[in-house]
Amino acid sequence: MKKILVIHGPNLNLLGEREPGIYGTDTFDSINSEITEYALNCGMYCEIFQSNHEGEIIDQLHVARKNYNGIILNAGAYTHYSYAIRDAIAAIKVPVIEVHLSNIHARDEFRNRSVIAPVCVGQIIGFGKESYILAVEALHKMLKEENADV
Ligand code: DQA
Repeated sequence: MKKILVIHGPNLNLLGEREPGIYGTDTFDSINSEITEYALNCGMYCEIFQSNHEGEIIDQLHVARKNYNGIILNAGAYTHYSYAIRDAIAAIKVPVIEVHLSNIHARDEFRNRSVIAPVCVGQIIGFGKESYILAVEALHKMLKEENADV
């Protein structure tokens, strides 16, 4: 069975109560349940990790390089300036899909830039919680071609 990991960055633990007009009213836990259930229906095992700390996200990317077939990453605000997270993604071979609930190109100017985008396989943004589901679907399609389970 393919194993995938969803990494949520800073402030995403507050989904449901955080700026609901932008990020929706679904809670962090309910979104995670939907993601893991969708992955299981695709025949993939999905684990969730969340941290508000840059170094912990980097540590998790390092750990994940040996334990997962694919990663879905919403790096939150780190997306826009963390060269350290970018380097961690570039350092590992596991494919990483960048995800955002909101359309980062339609918001504040500082959000228009993703420093991690060039080292991710692709970006799925602007579809609310469905961004994660579409990313699971994308990994499912990508990984189907691969033989090696971890
Ligand atoms: C976000 C967009 C970021 O700009 C912001 O800092 C977040 C959430 C999103 O999912 O839309 O924390 O990553």
